[in-house]
Amino acid sequence: MLVCFASEKGGVGKTTVAALLAERLTTLGVPLRLCDGDRQASLAAVAERAEGRMPVAVEVRPPEFPALAAAPGLTLLDLPSGIGLEFNTALSVAHHAIIPVAPSAFDLRTLPATLAQVRRAQELRGGLPRALIVPNKIDLREPASKELLAALARLGWSVSQTWLLERSVYRRMGAAGLGALPRGARRLADDEVAGLADEVLEVLGVGRREEAA
Ligand SMILES: Nc1ncnc2c1ncn2[C@@H]1O[C@H](COP(=O)(O)OP(=O)(O)OP(=O)(O)O)[C@@H](O)[C@H]1O
Ligand SMILES: [Mg+2]
Repeated sequence: MLVCFASEKGGVGKTTVAALLAERLTTLGVPLRLCDGDRQASLAAVAERAEGRMPVAVEVRPPEFPALAAAPGLTLLDLPSGIGLEFNTALSVAHHAIIPVAPSAFDLRTLPATLAQVRRAQELRGGLPRALIVPNKIDLREPASKELLAALARLGWSVSQTWLLERSVYRRMGAAGLGALPRGARRLADDEVAGLADEVLEVLGVGRREEAA
């Protein structure tokens, strides 16, 4: 099963959400393959510094996406921003698309273009890829976050009930590597990511194996 992290808008948290989910699913004992379809290879860099808490990310190009989709087991594929070859190829073969959205007018303006492409793929492929929008960088003291959540509720697309808040621990992840951060500093973040991972597993229809010790 191929799950891609996609959005036209850059900087919304595709790589961050992919890495957090990869780490959490690994902790839960869910086997997965991690693939980086972005030439900037940010996910590969994060995974490299994760001290074994998520798989190493393999760099892949669009011609390889169909084979990833056909492979057994779960594959997470991080994509570059933009509606380019990576995005369109991934939508043509992936089973699920996770679409992070952050609170800004720019994000809201570009979201319809992303969703229109997903809808087009779904029409061609009998409903695939299934889409899950994940609100990210949420700060409920900010009107922009409230506006985003209200706008998403009106869209009629699946939106995760767990949002990721704007947190320095996530911001530091790219630089320090998530595995390097002390667990205590992450308790609230860990709870949040655990909630999101449970929702994602339910959407994917994948059971947790065991809680790793
Ligand atoms: N919930 C969050 N709280 C704070 N910072 C965040 C959060 N999510 C992501 N960030 C930060 O926002 C920036 C962009 O995130 P990220 O690289 O994951 O986005 P992206 O969609 O993968 O971007 P690109 O389009 O460049 O691939 C990074 O510096 C990241 O650390
Ligand atoms: Mg990225």
